[in-house]
Amino acid sequence: MPAEARAVPPAGWSRVDDGPDPGRLITGRDRLARDPFFEVLHRRLLELLAACRGELALDVGCGTGEAVSALAAGGVRAVGIDRSRRMLEEARRRHPVLRLVMGDARHLPIACGRGRSGAGRTGVSSPG
Ligand SMILES: C[S@@+](CC[C@H](N)C(=O)[O-])C[C@H]1O[C@@H](n2cnc3c(N)ncnc32)[C@H](O)[C@@H]1O
Repeated sequence: MPAEARAVPPAGWSRVDDGPDPGRLITGRDRLARDPFFEVLHRRLLELLAACRGELALDVGCGTGEAVSALAAGGVRAVGIDRSRRMLEEARRRHPVLRLVMGDARHLPIACGRGRSGAGRTGVSSPG
């Protein structure tokens, strides 16, 4: 794992809006996404999720919405959820047409249906 990834304090991602500089976390996230380690990870994840084409998938902790965007481009009916107002603002700025919802992973505002794990398939009911 890149040193930069280890440098981000775990609490920083749990409470982005309470931190001293949410913008710095966004910049750091963008830098990390360009790291070969994460590029490979991200590409592989999207390959696995290609099996969900046409299905509804929820990206919990979607951040700036890059994975939701890639899934949507691949034909997955993707919805992103994040608890950070600042991250969602940035996600909506970057991807105005995506379905992005504010909410906490511990109390999802979307009722989860029955899903299948393994290939990363998760069914969720429509957020409306
Ligand atoms: C590493 S960042 C973004 C990751 C994103 N999936 C990506 O690939 O860019 C983690 C995100 O998880 C969000 N997060 C952390 N705890 C959360 C929770 N309990 N519920 C929802 N989102 C949460 C943070 O606000 C942050 O946007």
